[in-house]
Order: sequence, then C-alpha cells, then structure tokens
Amino acid sequence: MQEKGKLPTKMVCLSFASLSLTYSIMLIGVYITSSHQGLSCPDWPLCPNGFDLPSSKYFFEHFHRLLVLITSSFIFATAIYSIRKPRQIKNPAVIAGIIVVVQILLGMFVVNSKLQAVIVAGHLGTGMILFAMLLLTFIYSYKQWKNNIKV
Ligand code: HEM
Repeated sequence: MQEKGKLPTKMVCLSFASLSLTYSIMLIGVYITSSHQGLSCPDWPLCPNGFDLPSSKYFFEHFHRLLVLITSSFIFATAIYSIRKPRQIKNPAVIAGIIVVVQILLGMFVVNSKLQAVIVAGHLGTGMILFAMLLLTFIYSYKQWKNNIKV
C-alpha cells in the first residue's frame, strides 16, 4: 500500500510532464491544421522572429515549435532517467526518445514540402505513437509507485 502523503517519484513526474506537454503540442498542431495556418512560418526550425515574441500572424506555429523544444528536453530526460528502471518503463521511454527525433524531422518535411498530405498524415501518426509510448511509461511508473516499489 502507498503511504499517505508520499510524493510521486521523479520517474512519475517526468513521464507525466512529457505526456501532458506532448498532448498540448498535439492539440495546438490540430488547431494549426484545421485553421489553415500550417504555412504561416515558412522557415525551419524557427519562425522568422527566432526566439522573440511572435506576431499574431504565426503565433500558434511559433508556440508549437517552442513547446517542442521544451517537451523534447523532458522526453530525453525521461528516457535517460529510465535507463536503470524495469524493462516495462525503460522500453517505452527510450522508444519515445527516438520517436521524438523522427517527429521533429517529419515536422521539417511538413514545412519544406508545403504540407504534403502524406507527410502531414505521417506527422499525426508518429505523434500518436509518441503519445502512446509516453502513456505506457507513465502508467507503469505510476503503478510501481502505487505499489510502493521505488522507481
Ligand atoms: C513532439 C513533436 C511534435 C508533435 C507531437 C507534433 C504534433 C502535431 C500534430 C498532432 C499536428 C496536427 C496534424 C493533423 O492535424 O493532421 C501537427 C501539425 C503541424 N506540425 Fe507538428 N508536432 C511536433 C513537432 C513539429 C515540428 C518540430 C514542426 C516544424 C518545425 C512541426 C510543424 C507542424 C506543422 C507545420 C503542422 C501543421 C500541418 C498542417 O497545417 O497541415 N511540428 N503537429
């Protein structure tokens, strides 16, 4: 049984942060697609304003990419931290670390191909696999913590 008031472990916090940030990126991505703002930033990897505050013209595109920068750091930290953890936690966390690189490259192709439908579909599909891997990492870490097994 879990002790009352016991704080979640680092693994639980890291995987939850990665999961919720990825969910937010996906929501923003779908918003960009459905509001036809996909080509508002013609450059890669950053929008024309770089790291400055964006103009309203490409606010969501800029936010999508900035959030990717933060989220990928969390995903890499989760993967590195999972190395000495049980297989059920380590495997999806490391796979997520690899998939996020593929997803960022696909993001580049989405922009450079001027929103080729197949590439945008691939970007959505890869995003879903990434989310699934992070969800597995979180669920297994949470279960271990609940059962009072240190992770
Ligand atoms: C963790 C990384 C990322 C995730 C999870 C992610 C997720 C998504 C999702 C779910 C969509 C909506 C796709 C659809 O509605 O079919 C999207 C759209 C988009 N993403 Fe990403 N994305 C990521 C990284 C990037 C990067 C690095 C770039 C480019 C620098 C990028 C550029 C775009 C663009 C331009 C769209 C709009 C596509 C359109 O208008 O059809 N994404 N993203």
